[in-house]
Amino acid sequence: MINDRKIIFSAIQPSGQLTIGNYFGALKNWKMMQDTEDADCIFAVADLHAITVRQTPAEFRQRILQTYAILLSIGIDPKKSPCFIQSHVKEHSELAWMLNCYTQFGELGRMTQFKEKSQTHADNVNAGLFTYPTLMAADILLYQTDFVPVGADQKQHLELSRTIAERFNGIYGDVFTVPEPYIPKLCARVMSLQDPTKKMSKSDANVNSWVAMLDKPEDIVRKFKRAVTDSDMKVCVGEGKDGINNLISIYSAATGLTAEQIERDFEGKGYGDFKLAVGEAVAESLRPIREKFDDLMKNKDYLESCYKAGAETASRIAFRTVSKVSKKIGFIK
Ligand code: TYM
Repeated sequence: MINDRKIIFSAIQPSGQLTIGNYFGALKNWKMMQDTEDADCIFAVADLHAITVRQTPAEFRQRILQTYAILLSIGIDPKKSPCFIQSHVKEHSELAWMLNCYTQFGELGRMTQFKEKSQTHADNVNAGLFTYPTLMAADILLYQTDFVPVGADQKQHLELSRTIAERFNGIYGDVFTVPEPYIPKLCARVMSLQDPTKKMSKSDANVNSWVAMLDKPEDIVRKFKRAVTDSDMKVCVGEGKDGINNLISIYSAATGLTAEQIERDFEGKGYGDFKLAVGEAVAESLRPIREKFDDLMKNKDYLESCYKAGAETASRIAFRTVSKVSKKIGFIK
């Protein structure tokens, strides 16, 4: 890595199936930034984060690999952008511990995701769920990251990462780059198809509320046909039209059309036509990803060579940061 180039880092959890919220809110921008920005990109599958909720080992192993394969399927080029599995780079856990000691209990307690998850997983409110944001800060700060492409739900965690970096730098001098979130204008928060006031989430029990990146085209179309809209019957962006606003954003992200173009194209047409068009456009944009994914999953040796090489490159950078941090803190070498 060349030192004066900007660094872009992001990660995704291998928990459950990835949804079009993950894709349009984050992954699509990872690929876009890799291809267009004059920067070094590093991406990871955040398996350590995923054990804050109980996982079944065999399924978990499979899901980590599938999530990794999806990253390559959307066009992450592992030769250009080191792409690795978080637990393979030990410095993530190491730096996370150190950063825990520079993070306040009250700061972690204010995290919306912690509050939500401790309600949905009330039987397992473990310490990892609480300190999750310091592991995320470690992920980011290890690579001296400038920009972090994420959906809007991660904004609060990013702000805490900045606070931790600034606090550490305030004590020890310039150790960490203070990262900035990159949150897209479009699809920063893809909403549920069944309750468009709620974020689309794979943990939603109603499978019609979310679309998986690997859903079959006919299932994708069917889910969009059932999407909840309103009684206004006009395809246009507007207040109180959460369902249609969401569908317009998704259609826009899938086709590249602007909201104005979409409104013009669907003038005088009903919601049925529009929902069908959105479903077909999404199915079409995911088709090449699904095909590539099926190919990659037949080639596990190739996947292994990619994640091993990714971890090697990442480890070299991570080791440098941890060495610097250890020295600043006063550990003996
Ligand atoms: P995760 O795995 O829940 O989601 C991965 C990415 O997808 C985005 N996303 C969405 N965007 C728009 N609409 C939605 N409905 C939607 N659902 C998910 C998320 O914002 C995220 O960008 N803690 C992180 C993973 C992580 C990470 C990191 C991210 C671990 N370490 C370091 C950035 C930097 C998470 O749980 O994302």
